[in-house]
Amino acid sequence: MSKPNVQPSPTGTASNDPTPSMAVNGSAKIGGPAGNPLESPQSEAFTRDTLHRTASLAGMFLDLEQREPVAPTVAPDDLAEQLDLGLGEAGLPLDRVFELLGQVMEMTPRTSGRFFFNQLFAGRDAVPTAAEMLTALMNSSMYTYRIAGPHALIEDEVVRHMSGKVGYAEGEGIFCPGGSMSNLAAMIVARNQACPGAQQDGFDGRSMTAYASADAHYSFDKAAGMIGIGRANVRKIPTDARGAMMPEALRQAIRNDLEHGAQPFMIIATAGTTVLGAFDPIDALASIAEEFGLWLHVDGALGGSFLLSQKHRPLLRGSERSDSFNWNPHKLMGVPLSCSALLVQRRGLLRRHFNERADYLFQADEDRFDFGTMSMQCGRRNDAFKIWAGWKRHGDAGYARRVDRLIELAQYAAQCIRSDPQFVLTAEPESVTVCFEVRDRASDAICDRLLHDQRSMVGHAVVGGRRIIRIACASPEVTERDLDRFFEHVRAVAAELVPLTTSERKSGSAC
Ligand SMILES: Cc1ncc(COP(=O)(O)O)c(C=O)c1O
Repeated sequence: MSKPNVQPSPTGTASNDPTPSMAVNGSAKIGGPAGNPLESPQSEAFTRDTLHRTASLAGMFLDLEQREPVAPTVAPDDLAEQLDLGLGEAGLPLDRVFELLGQVMEMTPRTSGRFFFNQLFAGRDAVPTAAEMLTALMNSSMYTYRIAGPHALIEDEVVRHMSGKVGYAEGEGIFCPGGSMSNLAAMIVARNQACPGAQQDGFDGRSMTAYASADAHYSFDKAAGMIGIGRANVRKIPTDARGAMMPEALRQAIRNDLEHGAQPFMIIATAGTTVLGAFDPIDALASIAEEFGLWLHVDGALGGSFLLSQKHRPLLRGSERSDSFNWNPHKLMGVPLSCSALLVQRRGLLRRHFNERADYLFQADEDRFDFGTMSMQCGRRNDAFKIWAGWKRHGDAGYARRVDRLIELAQYAAQCIRSDPQFVLTAEPESVTVCFEVRDRASDAICDRLLHDQRSMVGHAVVGGRRIIRIACASPEVTERDLDRFFEHVRAVAAELVPLTTSERKSGSAC
């Protein structure tokens, strides 16, 4: 593995502060006052100096991303040898701590570069990033108004705005640490509504069943295991060629369970599945939920942001009929992780199911804004400030343009795939993920080689029993030219790989 030696950048250097190095071999030094850890780390001067160094390091990281958009891949054991990660009795001088921070950053996978297609988030939006850094500085906790102050009002405003987009006139909501947690909270509320004694007296052992598409996110299986429903009782409803749940199959599954004495309680519609980016037909599922009296949750972790686009909003038609909705601005809205809101149609339900007495904490000074009574958490980081800052900056219109642009990029990628006979498009993309294979080549080997050569970071998954490459278009900074280059890299790498054998080809590459 090469050890890139990062050079100082004039732009990334704080005016009165010598430049830190990000070099792994630590050849250069960080300037400023000698970093004696016994100097009062609480002092304002110390904090200012530390923040100056942080700004310099951030500048260095931006330069590094330009120069080396894909980080080197290093096996964990080798990485552990290269980096001084061990914790011990003695503290270190500040210079050395910052040198280590730089070294860790240098070896960190770049999620904001132009060749990162690996996750459902990418890129960097400067304003929410700045707000996130300031959030750490303010270090509020969101459980009470007394501690959160304006941030409680900000969370309230963001939640109201998002709820309005979903179509909840009088909804409520809470920021959770990620979409998995939002989904868990939705499942708990749905379970408690269907089985009112469960929270107090425990689960009564009847087999309660939830319904999600075969392509739904794994967090529902995990949550079902955690809340005593049982993973086996999340029914996986088949999907069509686009990857959307088939409503008639859902109706049949519910009837079948009812005939066998189960207690269906929840339908999960996915708005933007993790791999194919497909949208379940929410309106049709809402009618089935009404027919059987079931809770309808929309997992819009990925696709919730489409509500902001006039053009693509129809994909979520019917969301206003759902009971709860999970929306992750940290995916397509460019907000730093994590930022996920659970929105609930009926006001009061979150408090009903997540409130506990704690006289030492909830003292009813402004209990409307004591969001700790609506959350699974006690101490809770502030995830609202950064999305609020981003929303102030871009407005609905800016985010609409962002979403539209991401879809344009995905369509462009799909067109590149269609126009090359070497490639096979897995399904027509409905949103921002585009899945494909290279004929006679193993998808996982292509992804591994692209990463190893530091050309791109892109992931693979299994669709219909075949291992495919999934491009996630999550950053509007990416251009058509970048996608052209990405496909050139794929072709080059594929040409170097051994073709699959006939049996491997039939079974789907390396599945
Ligand atoms: C459809 C869907 N739901 C939920 C999640 C989980 O979100 P998080 O990673 O924020 O827990 C994901 C993550 O990719 C997802 O794609």
